[in-house]
Amino acid sequence: MIGKAGQTRDGIRIHQEVDFAGMHAAGAVTARILDEIAEHVFPGQTTGEIDRIITEKVEEAGAKSATIGYKGYQHASCISVNHVVCHGIPGDKRLKDGDILNIDVTTIVDGWFGDSSRMYVAGKMNRKAERLVQVTHDALMKGIEAVKPGNTFGDIGHAIQTYAEGHRMSIVRDFCGHGLGQVFHAPPNVLHYGRPGTGPMLEEGMFFTIEPMVNLGRPETKVLADDWTAVTRDKSLSAQFEHSIGVTADGFDIFTLSPTGKFHPTYE
Ligand code: MF3
Ligand code: CO
Ligand code: CO
Repeated sequence: MIGKAGQTRDGIRIHQEVDFAGMHAAGAVTARILDEIAEHVFPGQTTGEIDRIITEKVEEAGAKSATIGYKGYQHASCISVNHVVCHGIPGDKRLKDGDILNIDVTTIVDGWFGDSSRMYVAGKMNRKAERLVQVTHDALMKGIEAVKPGNTFGDIGHAIQTYAEGHRMSIVRDFCGHGLGQVFHAPPNVLHYGRPGTGPMLEEGMFFTIEPMVNLGRPETKVLADDWTAVTRDKSLSAQFEHSIGVTADGFDIFTLSPTGKFHPTYE
């Protein structure tokens, strides 16, 4: 027993042990789809076709897409190519050799939300892109390693920020992670920057995403006229990785781990 059913702390829901199973089921569906989509990413492919395949896979899994119909969004994924920071809308544009892209999928399984995103490459990654993708992945993992009861959300942000900035890259401040569970976006805002010891205290049973966006250039973003697509203002390359996680008695539980170890595009 972690706490009373329905309990919150600082407005953040404290989940029960059985709820971890619900999150693992949803996270596993999302992770499997992100694994399986890798072979459909290649030069000449359209992001619209990738999204169509994801939509099919969500249905085949007996799950629901959390993004179709969310605030008017019409796709099962966000696909953010090169200088697109997040919320890229799938469409007819064809991927070129060397393009890097984030694919972000959220499924709902028995009412629980599994939200994860990873980087992919069409063809072969250049050295600069490879470095960005590596640092962004490792920044997420540094953030996750800061998750344990007694630490704060500021500790997570600080770990991510110091890692990325230590590699002379910048952390996007205009978008953040979020609480989730039986809802898509719940308190708190999970910032990917911050000062140690600040923000709400982490407690066993909290569920949230960590999803740092890292830019090779400056951190500023702008949203295009379609009201979704966020891009770097200076057109520099941007990358993102996202896991859904839960706080355990002595650390963390990652709900969206890749069943085949494919979370990072170049670890295979
Ligand atoms: N999955 C995204 C996140 O990490 C949210 C996408 S909302 C959408 O929070 F409507 F753009 F799909
Ligand atoms: Co998210
Ligand atoms: Co997401």
